[in-house]
Amino acid sequence: MHSEYQHLIDLNDFPVAWWKKLIELGENIKNDPVKYAHECEGKVMATLFYEPSTRTQMSFQTAMLRLGGKIIGFDNPANSSVAKGETIKDTTKIVSSYADILVIRHPVAGAAKAASLTADCPVINAGDGGHLHPTQTLTDLLTLKIEKKRLSGLTIGMCGDLINGRTVHSLCKALSMLENNKFIFISTPKLKMPVYIKDIIKANGSTYEEVHTLEEAMDKLDVLYMTRIQQERFDSEEEYLAQKNTYVLDKKKMQLARQDMIVMHPLPRVDEITVEVDEDPRAMYFTQAKYGVFARMALIMMMLDGKKSSETLRGKVYGGVRCDNPRCITNHEEYLPKSFRSSGDETLLECEYCDERKLI
Ligand code: CP
Repeated sequence: MHSEYQHLIDLNDFPVAWWKKLIELGENIKNDPVKYAHECEGKVMATLFYEPSTRTQMSFQTAMLRLGGKIIGFDNPANSSVAKGETIKDTTKIVSSYADILVIRHPVAGAAKAASLTADCPVINAGDGGHLHPTQTLTDLLTLKIEKKRLSGLTIGMCGDLINGRTVHSLCKALSMLENNKFIFISTPKLKMPVYIKDIIKANGSTYEEVHTLEEAMDKLDVLYMTRIQQERFDSEEEYLAQKNTYVLDKKKMQLARQDMIVMHPLPRVDEITVEVDEDPRAMYFTQAKYGVFARMALIMMMLDGKKSSETLRGKVYGGVRCDNPRCITNHEEYLPKSFRSSGDETLLECEYCDERKLI
């Protein structure tokens, strides 16, 4: 399996200079969108959404339409041949022969990586299970650049479902690459940030602390990034109900925050931010969603203009070794090479699709 295109699966596959260029382009597009209205004339973008979405799907579609391109795709796999049992490999192979760029969201970790292995056009990860959401991160970085005027020297509180939150995983990986960013993780013991993300933060030279309440963090923050407790990622209703409503940002808690703090949220929200907070000038989440169009316009332009790459899988197949994560795409689509990165001594392997670790 081999694809020769440049894909966006994980933002950290690209150098920081590339993200900064993209953010700058996003700002330019925001300031003068009409200037870019013909950039993608004659191009077709396919959006394959195997999982529900409002913002990501529609902002991608809006972005392509505003660049002068056209769109195809599905937002419900039940209305496509996926319902007849078609694999990601075959769907991707076919659709990438119709389109110039392909955007995929899937409920299983590593699905976008799997799609990229056979695609005949660039693939963009629009969210793969609880793993990564790099285009939300580009939206978040653009929001920080415009609203905080910087991407470094920030103290960022992340609150809620940190174990399943692909948006916070991607954002931590990105912000920890930039200077002097600090993280405060606010969660219950069950919903803590995964160890592999905390290891990446440390390896990148950033710091984090973990607390259980919003009150402990509020006055220290430049940015509060709220997240939804994601019912769809829990194994049972009972486990979800035990976590639901743990964190609710309301007017009273906002009084503890600095006047220049901003509140971000990838949305959708359920009940973790009360509607009264929407009126607070520090509430940035609706603006953030709007900026998603500019970030994705910049991304589409840069991906269509990108260099071809000869790299797809960089790891190695260890005969018979499988990923232990039941929510990894390699445990759903059997034909995929079970490729792992090694830590050097080859006893600790990391799945190349979902990043789950395994001792052998
Ligand atoms: N932020 C985000 O991914 O929203 P959607 O699920 O609506 O796309």
